[in-house]
Amino acid sequence: METTNNIHPIFDRLLQRADREKRLNQKAKVFWFTGLSGSGKSTIAQGVERKLYNEGFFPQVLDGDNIRIGINNNLGFSVEDRRENIRRIAEVAKLYLNSGIITLNSFISPTREIRSFAKSIVGEEDFLEIFINTPLEVCESRDVKGLYKKARAGQIKGFTGIDSPYEPPENPDLEIKTAEMTVEEAVEKVYGFMLDHISK
Ligand code: ADX
Repeated sequence: METTNNIHPIFDRLLQRADREKRLNQKAKVFWFTGLSGSGKSTIAQGVERKLYNEGFFPQVLDGDNIRIGINNNLGFSVEDRRENIRRIAEVAKLYLNSGIITLNSFISPTREIRSFAKSIVGEEDFLEIFINTPLEVCESRDVKGLYKKARAGQIKGFTGIDSPYEPPENPDLEIKTAEMTVEEAVEKVYGFMLDHISK
């Protein structure tokens, strides 16, 4: 048998991202939601996910509920752990991206450095930053999880916005001011923004 018969060029066999995008009838992208705890990131991301799905797209939200309790359950909130949290999420999002799936990543991702790190992993052309801009006072007055109260009482150390920094994006692809609109309006606005990037 000739040795050349045993060579199988891998690119002939491997399904490409473009093949999967064609099947799913969408362009895959990574939408990165950043903002304070309680800013509404996950609520909006989940609303947009539902809307995308209803409109025939194939999206996936990644947030603390499916990442920090699973793959990242060994990480806390030190600077190093947050960076590792974001690194793994960006790598996971990249796998989804190459599967043709639209991901909505909802994580505080508190510093410009950490977000640009995520962007460098995903790839600049596929990464869109959405700033969920809710003032600290509003997040704190909502205090959905009761964590701000604990942070103020010193029961949680290094809480973002209290005694750990949050650096707002300087030039986000989209900014949503949740104090000035309803959740439904925010969902519509984000969805409208996404359409241009994901439609075939
Ligand atoms: S990130 O900084 O690493 O991007 P991530 O979005 O995964 O954070 O997790 C934030 C969520 O974890 C918050 O919404 C809150 O529920 C919880 N949390 C627990 N401890 C902290 C803390 N010290 N700082 C911020 N969020 C915390």
